[in-house]
Amino acid sequence: MGKQLCAILILCSMVISITAVHGITEDPISVEKWFDNLTNSKQKVTKLEFYFQDMRGGKNPTSIQVAGANTTNTSPTLFGGINMVDNPLTVGPELSSKQLGRAQGIYGASSMEEMCLLTLVNLAFTDGKYNGSTLALLGRNPILEEYREMSIVGGSGLFRLARGIATAKTYSINATSGYGVVHYHVMAIHY
Ligand SMILES: *[C@@H]1O[C@H](CO)[C@@H](O)[C@H](O)[C@H]1NC(C)=O
Ligand SMILES: *[C@@H]1O[C@H](CO)[C@@H](O)[C@H](O)[C@H]1NC(C)=O
Ligand SMILES: *[C@@H]1O[C@H](CO)[C@@H](O)[C@H](O)[C@H]1NC(C)=O
Ligand SMILES: *[C@@H]1O[C@H](CO)[C@@H](O)[C@H](O)[C@H]1NC(C)=O
Repeated sequence: MGKQLCAILILCSMVISITAVHGITEDPISVEKWFDNLTNSKQKVTKLEFYFQDMRGGKNPTSIQVAGANTTNTSPTLFGGINMVDNPLTVGPELSSKQLGRAQGIYGASSMEEMCLLTLVNLAFTDGKYNGSTLALLGRNPILEEYREMSIVGGSGLFRLARGIATAKTYSINATSGYGVVHYHVMAIHY
């Protein structure tokens, strides 16, 4: 009985370990093998472009304020306000255009003197070759500047050990509806 259970568990874990994101196995042994093989792996550069759809208002907001200081609402820069987001990433600027993934994470007003955000999101891709892979984006985002350069600090799946640069440019903003669209370009090095 004990042995049978054990065999079933081993079988299950084998089934789980061969469940892979786009052919990349994610169990610890496979990750170790992947590392051991790094010296044979070539670095790649991948270029991505998408629109980040920030919907703070409307019927189905995907960007929601979850915290703030008692002074946030009276601060000229809304300092301390923090939003949790699950924003669509689309091919074109229209919300209806093809979705490539979601930006999941937080942004918060991090400056007392200018409109500047700390952006901390996982870009979780759901389409095509990168379906199931993620990039971790972290950066200082002074939203009134034309281009804001932020860092790609890591990744998973096809983007393991990624690093790179994300450039954000506001495409449109509607203060009344709380709907903003940001155009992103990402250059990432990975294996
Ligand atoms: C090791 O890396 C090479 C080059 O990327 C690849 O062709 C090969 O399949 C890898 N081997 C293993 C065991 O992952
Ligand atoms: C905000 O909270 C702090 C700490 O509790 C308190 O000292 C301060 O008076 C409060 N400020 C306002 C504007 O309510
Ligand atoms: C992405 O992967 C998930 C899980 O494997 C799958 O259910 C989904 O259909 C895939 N999406 C696309 C657009 O390929
Ligand atoms: C901004 O949003 C409001 C409310 O949804 C809408 O009435 C208005 O037309 C929008 N403005 C632009 C320029 O799209």
